[in-house]
Amino acid sequence: MLVKRAAGALGAYVHAIDLRQVQADAALQRAIREALVTHEVLFFRDQSLSPMEFAEFARSFGPVQSHSAYGTAPGVPEVQILESTPEAPSKIEVWHSDMTFSATPPTFTFLHAQTIPQVGGDTLWASATAAWDALSAPMQTLLRPLQAVHDFRFGFQESLAEPGGAERLADMLANNPPVQHPVVRTHPETQRQALYVNALFTRAIEGISGLESNALLKFLFEHIVSPEFTVRLTWEPGTLAVWDNRSTQHKPVNDYFPAARKLHRVTSEGTPTS
Ligand code: SIN
Repeated sequence: MLVKRAAGALGAYVHAIDLRQVQADAALQRAIREALVTHEVLFFRDQSLSPMEFAEFARSFGPVQSHSAYGTAPGVPEVQILESTPEAPSKIEVWHSDMTFSATPPTFTFLHAQTIPQVGGDTLWASATAAWDALSAPMQTLLRPLQAVHDFRFGFQESLAEPGGAERLADMLANNPPVQHPVVRTHPETQRQALYVNALFTRAIEGISGLESNALLKFLFEHIVSPEFTVRLTWEPGTLAVWDNRSTQHKPVNDYFPAARKLHRVTSEGTPTS
C-alpha cells in the first residue's frame, strides 16, 4: 500500500489496496492501523465492498457497535445508513467527535460512500492534536486538569424537539445520562495529547463559572477547527474514510440541497477516556 499525506496537520490517501483483503492479513491490518493513528484520518478510493464486507473490514480494527438513532443495512445491523434527501436533509451541522455523550465513545468511525452529489457534500476533519500542540504553555497548563460534561440531550436538542423525536430517541436518552471526559485526552497508542471538547456534545467545563466555561469553550471550539488544522475530502462513490475519534473532529458540508447523499457508517467500540 502507498500512503500519501493529504494536508499539513492530518489526513492521508492510501493507494494500491483492496480493503476486502485486509481481514485475512494481520500485517496489512497493523500497517493500516499505524497509518491511521499517525495521520488520524485515512481515505481509500474505489472500494467496492458489500455492507457485510464493510462491517468485516471495520471489525479488523476491533469490536464494532450499532447506533440506534439511525437505520441500518438489511441483515447487517452494524452498518448504519446516513442518508440525506430533499425530504429529510442531513441534520449533522456541527463539528464533533462521534458520540462523546457516551462514557466510552467509539474509537474509530468508518464511512463508505454510496450516493454522492455531483457537487458538494464534502467532509472536513480537524486535528485536535495539532490544535493542542499550537496552544501556549500557560493555556495548556490551565486546561490540563479540567473535565467537561458531554450530554446527549444537548447534542440532540433539535431532534428531540421535533414531532415524534422524544419518542424515537427515548431509549438513547435514557441510556445516555451526561458524562465527564477530560478536556485534554492522552491518546493511548501515540501518547500524544489532544483537545477533547466539541461543539455538538460538550455542554460545560466543570469547576469554573458558567461565564468562564462558555468563553473557554467558545475559544477552544473555534481554535480546534482553524483551517491550518483541517483536511477536506471530496467524496466519490466507493470512497471509504476511516478516522480516529480520539484525535480528530469532523463535520459534513451540507451544500448540495436538493441532491441526495448516502453513506454507510460503522463505529467501533470505545474505551474510557482517562
Ligand atoms: C458523521 O458525522 O459521522 C457523518 C459525516 C458525513 O456525513 O460526512
